[in-house]
Amino acid sequence: MNSTTESSSSSSSSSSSESSSDKSSSSSSSCSSGCQFLYEIGEKLDKYVITKYLSSGTFGMVLEVIDELGIPYAVKILSQTDHTEVEVLKQIQQFDPFGEAGIVRFYDYFAWQDYHCILLERLGLNLHEYLQQNSLNITELQSIFQQITTSLLFMHSLGITHTDLKPENIVFSHQQKHLVKLIDMGGATQANEHHSTVINTRQYRAPEVILRCDAWDTSSDIWSLACLIVELYTGSVFIKVGNNDLMHLAIIQSIFGPIPRWMKERSKIKTKLNSLPYPKPQLQLGQLIKDHDLLDLLTKMFCIDHNQRIDCHQILLHNFFQKKFI
Ligand SMILES: Nc1ncnc2c1ncn2[C@@H]1O[C@H](COP(=O)(O)OP(=O)(O)O)[C@@H](O)[C@H]1O
Ligand SMILES: [Mg+2]
Repeated sequence: MNSTTESSSSSSSSSSSESSSDKSSSSSSSCSSGCQFLYEIGEKLDKYVITKYLSSGTFGMVLEVIDELGIPYAVKILSQTDHTEVEVLKQIQQFDPFGEAGIVRFYDYFAWQDYHCILLERLGLNLHEYLQQNSLNITELQSIFQQITTSLLFMHSLGITHTDLKPENIVFSHQQKHLVKLIDMGGATQANEHHSTVINTRQYRAPEVILRCDAWDTSSDIWSLACLIVELYTGSVFIKVGNNDLMHLAIIQSIFGPIPRWMKERSKIKTKLNSLPYPKPQLQLGQLIKDHDLLDLLTKMFCIDHNQRIDCHQILLHNFFQKKFI
């Protein structure tokens, strides 16, 4: 399953009741793919008891459940079978048996009525929800950036591209306030697997994906990560664009310079590239990011040529992570 959407983070489909009171009567919530699961708080879900509605994404509704010992979990309920997510979670677990990679822990997968349930570690608010009430200081941003890059380095070392990095898919730990974890492996793709033509939520999509010039690879996550970091820094989506590839490419060029000729040549939409629209004037990265090291790092992550883009290992060695902010 691929979790590609055209929604923007600010008009996200993600909805949460973390801060509101528990729903106590019969409830049904839906995710944007239309999965509608009817449940009641206190009702059984297999051998678990439903205790709270947590959130919904593009494909899944997520509820809190407890087991017979009262231990809480999150259960992601899907209306379609999605073996990809489970297979990727299992593979990650195999190579990260102690859960040190900063990726949501997977516990079980079972069918329930017409639904498929993925039992996961119970986490807290996602970054999108968090940013609606709070902002991050530079130290917090540095820590979150480092944690996500470390998790991504682990995934990339296994040859897996996440393909849907965005604030909704980064979630705070429920217990340890400053820890974040990567979630949502619904679109995660192995290097040797079929690569969907289009990946990512629009605003986080890399130019090589929009251009359809080659099979994309793990470097597409680095572009998405850069978009995500600018958003964490400024508090709003960086590349604001609707569902329009040509306008998206025009905006990218107006911020980051021309698309290399070889990428245009290999593009499957090459014939349309001669008539790109004129975007509204865009804020340049240097106008938004005041820290010089962060600006330098982001510039290397926003390299349009994905073969030249910095990777996770190089990101973690960058000066920005050597700095202590007071
Ligand atoms: N383990 C978890 N603990 C707490 N909340 C979670 C957990 N997994 C997902 N969520 C919440 O549910 C939302 C949707 O889950 P996600 O796996 O991203 O589904 P989708 O594939 O539909 O986007 C997330 O944005 C997050 O807020
Ligand atoms: Mg998601």
